[in-house]
Amino acid sequence: MNTLRFIQITDTHLSDRADGTLRGLNTADALAAVVTHVRECESRIDGVLATGDLSHDGGTPSYRRFVQLLAPLNAPVYCLPGNHDALGLCACALKGPRVQSGGRRLAGNWQAIFLDSAVPGAVHGHLRPAELARLDNALSEHPERHALICLHHQPVPIGSAWLDALMLDNAAAFFDVVDRHANVRGMLWGHVHQTFDVTRNGVRLLASPSTCIQFKPGCNDFTLDDKPPGYRWLELHADGGIETSVEYLHHR
Ligand SMILES: [Fe+2]
Repeated sequence: MNTLRFIQITDTHLSDRADGTLRGLNTADALAAVVTHVRECESRIDGVLATGDLSHDGGTPSYRRFVQLLAPLNAPVYCLPGNHDALGLCACALKGPRVQSGGRRLAGNWQAIFLDSAVPGAVHGHLRPAELARLDNALSEHPERHALICLHHQPVPIGSAWLDALMLDNAAAFFDVVDRHANVRGMLWGHVHQTFDVTRNGVRLLASPSTCIQFKPGCNDFTLDDKPPGYRWLELHADGGIETSVEYLHHR
């Protein structure tokens, strides 16, 4: 029971219209299929980590649809914005009894911190001084808790030039904060629509597939992958260990 089990759902790219598509894929249908798969395969969910680009065009109906589509998981949903999200609307539309936008969650021996790296009108990411200070304070406040940091943009290059031009532009300042604290165990992001899993100074750095289209790893120019929609599960153990893997839906 001391182990926490989370599901990461990212880059759902929902439209205001229910029949909205991205590169020919109906994103609402794709998310519904992922949710069905999660319900069938995941025995317990302590929370859903939704790491941005929840909406593709940033309208209220798309956020309402996001909440509705995740409702069958019957779990709290923790959201943060991506470059496609309308920031104010995202925070407003995603408030509710089971939905939290930004902030943090304390559970078990852990603290999950949800950062806003979105820059209005831009695709790359940036953590404002206030957001870096919030991270620093949260980590200082609970040195006894293991920490998982969630954001939208990658803080390290992933090996695709076109995506790495759109990463967090002040990653050095971010790691200055992270490296001051011994309790950070992992960080988790979206944005890159692909799996990534490396360890830096003992901290697990993780990116995950989108619930819709995927980008092909290792490409210098925009290239789609033929992988199906996916998600990540994470088990956060009481001793700070992280067990995790990604799951892809079968090709339909
Ligand atoms: Fe995205």
